[in-house]
Amino acid sequence: MRRLYVAGNWKMNLNLAEAKALVEGLKKGLAAEAQIDVAVCPPFYMLVALAELLKGTRIGLGAQNCHFEAKGAFTGEISPPMLKDAGCDTVIIGHSERRQYFGEAGELLKKKVVAALGAGLKVIYCIGETLTEREAGRTEAVISRHLREVCGPDVSLDHVTIAYEPVWAIGTGKTATPAQAQEAHACCRSEIAKIYNAAVAAAVPIQYGGSVKPDIARELMSQPDVDGALVGGASLKAANFLGIIEGALAARK
Ligand code: PGA
Repeated sequence: MRRLYVAGNWKMNLNLAEAKALVEGLKKGLAAEAQIDVAVCPPFYMLVALAELLKGTRIGLGAQNCHFEAKGAFTGEISPPMLKDAGCDTVIIGHSERRQYFGEAGELLKKKVVAALGAGLKVIYCIGETLTEREAGRTEAVISRHLREVCGPDVSLDHVTIAYEPVWAIGTGKTATPAQAQEAHACCRSEIAKIYNAAVAAAVPIQYGGSVKPDIARELMSQPDVDGALVGGASLKAANFLGIIEGALAARK
């Protein structure tokens, strides 16, 4: 059975004091038994300090982006080995905000995924359609295109989680219904089966992201192909994030 995985994408929010308080709140609130995987993805400058606080806990630490080169003249960028050095175990790649505001796509994202995996990081690779694409009936085509940008015989999904995040649901309060999420996740899985094979498709975890809140978490993660959540806004408050984790635990029972 695939493990459930709940990750918090803090985006460009919180200051260091607030971030430390949030991590302490999560440490206090998390049940000791490790039935589901949990991670937080703070802004870059907090990573080293938070890695220290998270040592010996079961909360993973992720970054929100990386460059594809290991080092060099790339002003303002950070490399996968640097993220490892900072204490990260994971990196988010291809988030819709990176695609939308920073023009990231295709070959660039593949290079980032390959570089991150090569540095020993796990990857959360984000995909998902815009409202216009959904209304034009292109959801499946977009899912397929985003997956094929990165997936292929030269990239193993052993350390990759897919995050299906419909752009229309991100930060809008309009969570996809559990049925909509299940339909899209099943589509992701069948695409992955076509690119690789049934065993790879059955093993890869697929998180849902887009306005996940505690009240809908359990129902979302009870769907057969929904293996967790990538949480933005609701990951910024310990009570909300812990509520989503509780929902995940309830979905597992
Ligand atoms: P949201 O963000 O939960 O605030 O909608 C999710 C994401 O962008 O990962």
